[in-house]
Amino acid sequence: MASHLACFNAPCRAHFDLNEVLYNCPNCGGLLEVEYDFSDVDASVLKRVWRERRMENSPLSQSGVWRYRELFPFLDDLAHVITLREGNTPLLDAPRAAGYGGLARVVFKHQGFNPTGSFKDNGMTCGAAQAKRLGMRRVACVSTGNTSASMAAYASAGGLEPLIFIPHGNISYGKLAQALEYGAKTFQVEANFDQILALVRTLAEKLGIYLLNSINPFRIEGQKSIVIEMLDQRDWRVPDWIVLPGGNLGNVSAFGKGLRELHRLGFLDRLPRLGVVQAEGSSPFYEYMRAGGSSAFRAVEHPETLATAIKIGDPVSWPKAQFEIESSKGVVERVTEAEIADAKAIVGRCGIGCEPASAASLAGIRKLTAAGVIDRDADVVAVLTGNVLKDPDYIYKFHTGQLEAPGGSLIRSSLENRPVVVPNDAARITELLDE
Ligand code: F0G
Repeated sequence: MASHLACFNAPCRAHFDLNEVLYNCPNCGGLLEVEYDFSDVDASVLKRVWRERRMENSPLSQSGVWRYRELFPFLDDLAHVITLREGNTPLLDAPRAAGYGGLARVVFKHQGFNPTGSFKDNGMTCGAAQAKRLGMRRVACVSTGNTSASMAAYASAGGLEPLIFIPHGNISYGKLAQALEYGAKTFQVEANFDQILALVRTLAEKLGIYLLNSINPFRIEGQKSIVIEMLDQRDWRVPDWIVLPGGNLGNVSAFGKGLRELHRLGFLDRLPRLGVVQAEGSSPFYEYMRAGGSSAFRAVEHPETLATAIKIGDPVSWPKAQFEIESSKGVVERVTEAEIADAKAIVGRCGIGCEPASAASLAGIRKLTAAGVIDRDADVVAVLTGNVLKDPDYIYKFHTGQLEAPGGSLIRSSLENRPVVVPNDAARITELLDE
């Protein structure tokens, strides 16, 4: 069996060549995934090879994605790789966050340490390589901000032309600034994420532009490296839970696929459970799974949340996400704006920091431990998906008591940390410090 694209839809499972430009199955419209012949994979050999690569200076070995390329061998020529040395993100202990989350211990896998500050880089390096391999000149995405920042960087680094479509007024300035700085042609569209995705798919087909949204199966392949690296860093000790925020649901799909493959190939002795956390105003997947996961999937027409990264009402990858949640005996939770804001401030107080969507992980853990779903002594890895500097506006408003939830109510918190305006006067500052 050679590598190929396969329809994810179980009754169809049609196969297509890796060189075809496809985002959905032409037969049934299902999602696509990449399937490989893994018959040569030897887990113990690869574990050693991957460790040795950490000592090497070649770009491919230094990349925390391509170091693990044997588990996503879709390229026929590695010369197509564009790498900014993505991945290599740390596992960070955070005792204060653990206490807040109701756990004895929690570890953050912080994807915000990536070159453009989010987990999107793990997938984008693979999507961009596939674009090069296909001979594409222009690449496009619709984004709540991080995908566009990442795509702009990788496309420009690799000599491709990046075209970005974002919901006007609904992404953070940190992310928009990155897209502009990395040289993307940027369209701010007067519509929401879901509407723009439909628009961009039409444009991509018409104009022969390569689409690099997470519907692109090669991006999902790259995002598998997040869990591969996580397990390598843990000497292959499987955690009880991996908890992450969910928007378009590409990341949970990638984690699930990566973990199942690692398990099947003998790297892991069991599967961890996956926990996906959505923002209350944008939680169609939570609703769907709570209703049993067998009724029709109902999109949220007007998604709302200050965590703009996960402000998505019609997530494209929900069938894959459902499969991965069910295969891992996982759960889906949702959290309020105030819960996200407080959890984010706690991550900050740990000296770690993250963007709002990322904090949904810790907020969700707090709810799931309180409900007895996650044990206090469970071994939990929480994924922080984006860097603290992605959304400084949110942070300043939070700490100065000006953060407004989508309905207009103020989010006030005991974790506020107002800056103090002082005169240029040492005596007065000393007084203030003694108060
Ligand atoms: N966290 C952050 C920081 C994100 O940027 C995203 C998605 C998610 C979580 C959710 O991941 O979509 O795989 O479930 N951002 C996309 C974007 C949609 O356009 O940057 P998901």
